[in-house]
Amino acid sequence: MSRFQIRVPATSANLGPGFDSVGIALSKYVTLDCEPAEEWHFSVPVEDREHIPSDKRNLIYKTALAAAQTRGFDSLPPTHVTLTNDVPVARGLGSSSTAVVGGIELADQLLDLELTRYEKFKIACDIEGHPDNVGPAVYGGIMVSNYDGEHLDYVHFTEDLDTLTWLSVVPDYHLETEKARSILPLEIDYKEGVRSSSRANVLVAALASKDWALAGKMMKNDQWHQPYRKMLIPGFDAVTEVLEGEQSLGYYISGAGPTMVAVFDEWTKEKERRLQNKLSSYTVEALAVELDGVTTIQKNEVPAAES
Ligand code: HSE
Repeated sequence: MSRFQIRVPATSANLGPGFDSVGIALSKYVTLDCEPAEEWHFSVPVEDREHIPSDKRNLIYKTALAAAQTRGFDSLPPTHVTLTNDVPVARGLGSSSTAVVGGIELADQLLDLELTRYEKFKIACDIEGHPDNVGPAVYGGIMVSNYDGEHLDYVHFTEDLDTLTWLSVVPDYHLETEKARSILPLEIDYKEGVRSSSRANVLVAALASKDWALAGKMMKNDQWHQPYRKMLIPGFDAVTEVLEGEQSLGYYISGAGPTMVAVFDEWTKEKERRLQNKLSSYTVEALAVELDGVTTIQKNEVPAAES
């Protein structure tokens, strides 16, 4: 087995009303440097050790094994995986999806499964349960998808997304997805559901037709999940006030939170500095869309500085 490096992008799900269905890949990454070993081991960055196991309990390993099993294999060649993690854990930037998609890619490489992107996406949906984070992690760009446990349908688009800046505002605390889902209502009024669905329709049509201002307006107007989840995010109102003051087109709770993402069509370093100053208790980073999704390079192709 050769040495290789897998790179998986962060993702931001929902984009407001596209709940469990819409997501975008962003320019932050988890990398897995893989080499043959006597036994399975994950070298995990110190700051993540509390959350990410270094043995076979690691989600990357569990996913790799599950992916292998879908193709009739019941084991994987022992591998040493060194993780470099630029995606904060349990903050709403798709960290568990990076592990799921990274694990599927790892199985594909180790066993020469030759999975298509669609097959990777489908396996990832079966593991993750919903497609909004794993879709863009596999394909890059924006994915709009529907998965009912059997059928997986999607529309992928990328055009001109690189003209936008996606500002991540990350607080210094974790919010587990399970908790952020547990506060959502079990039922909603029919008419309310129709209105929420129409906002999602306009969001997607606006993104597809590159009407960024309208897309931003819909992001802010979500009623599926944000009115409930903002209770779990103490700084929500203060952050939105700052973003409004800096002419953000729109903003939303990224995935299950607590990170918020704001979209800008006009961006300057000066604006970035101002936002960092005004939101100094957060990690504020200007991100771009990631257009390629998960990639693997053989180690002898890794640029010298990285190997
Ligand atoms: N759509 C999901 C949610 C993303 O908002 O709960 C997090 O897995």
